[in-house]
Amino acid sequence: MGNTIELDHVSKAFDGKTVIHGLSAAFEDGEFIAILGPSGCGKSTMLSMIAGLERITSGRILIGGTEVQNKAPKDRGCAMVFQNYALYPHMSVRENIGYALKVAGVPKEERHRRIAEAARVVELGDYLDRRPSALSGGQRQRVAIARAIVREPKVLLFDEPLSNLDAKLRHGMRMELSQLHRRIGATSVFVTHDQIEAMTLAGRVMLLNAGRIEQFASPHDLYHRPASTFVASFIGAPPMNLITVTGDGSALRLPDGTILADHGHTGGVTLGIRPEKIVTGAGTLLAKVLYREDLGSHCSLLVQLGGGQTILIASPFGTEIGAFDEIRFHFPTEQIHLFDTETGLRANS
Ligand SMILES: Nc1ncnc2c1ncn2[C@@H]1O[C@H](COP(=O)(O)OP(=O)(O)OP(=O)(O)O)[C@@H](O)[C@H]1O
Ligand SMILES: [Mg+2]
Repeated sequence: MGNTIELDHVSKAFDGKTVIHGLSAAFEDGEFIAILGPSGCGKSTMLSMIAGLERITSGRILIGGTEVQNKAPKDRGCAMVFQNYALYPHMSVRENIGYALKVAGVPKEERHRRIAEAARVVELGDYLDRRPSALSGGQRQRVAIARAIVREPKVLLFDEPLSNLDAKLRHGMRMELSQLHRRIGATSVFVTHDQIEAMTLAGRVMLLNAGRIEQFASPHDLYHRPASTFVASFIGAPPMNLITVTGDGSALRLPDGTILADHGHTGGVTLGIRPEKIVTGAGTLLAKVLYREDLGSHCSLLVQLGGGQTILIASPFGTEIGAFDEIRFHFPTEQIHLFDTETGLRANS
């Protein structure tokens, strides 16, 4: 079985209010999974239930094929890294990393070997005698990670471990975490509300919405084949444009009759197109730019369609376009996503 994790109809209620609704999923041995979603969707609760810090209300959790939902946290073989990693300020890096081993009564020689190995993995070998106060934020975060991996856990659980770091450090730590995972190979579950973190680190991303799975798929599929309008507007920055249209069997039209794209769909539907997939400079659509943001590599243009609805276009040629200019553009048919307007679920294959 290896170190698989299975969530079998897991539910959680606080004071009678359900926050996780019968969630089922399976993580493979050695996989790097991200749990992504907006604030309050249940990410931390889900992770705490895997770790055993929070009891489940119903369902089963299996680690390596064994039911663990009634086991104490220390008997589940998980180690957790939190956003607020709370190192012991009066202890050296070495003592911080080795504390859990000392408490567990691991003999001194083995303790030192394992501390040295964990410090090597996070590249803190030269810092073992320092106090946390003499480390940078990123180095402190690495001590927290070393403290987790020194226990040689079957499963590594991370709850927003990078969100206290500045943007540059976060990028560096992302690459380090990714390499670390390749080196130690523990099944890893990483909670974040940052889509970039989820998309870059994880092999698969579980996107939660109000305690339910919206989509559990590879980063590629989340971006290219979003299962719902929720996923479509959560993944990607700026988010996908969603436009209510009607198909007549050969084209998708706005209420005023304007043809937005050629397509065989018939009936009312929500058309999705990413700002960066709209082609500017040619095409049958013409609109006035209401607002322009120059982001260096491209420009973000807000334009108004017939009928008043606004959409965003990300254009590499944006700098040649002024605010209040009219631009030509078109929606390539192969870039069009269709969603059921009532349910929000994906409607095209
Ligand atoms: N101990 C608790 N008692 C009551 N309600 C709780 C408790 N812990 C969490 N909740 C509720 O459960 C829901 C999910 O919370 P959770 O902390 O898992 O969200 P999250 O996805 O981690 O959010 P964030 O991104 O803000 O950290 C929220 O509505 C929250 O208010
Ligand atoms: Mg949380």
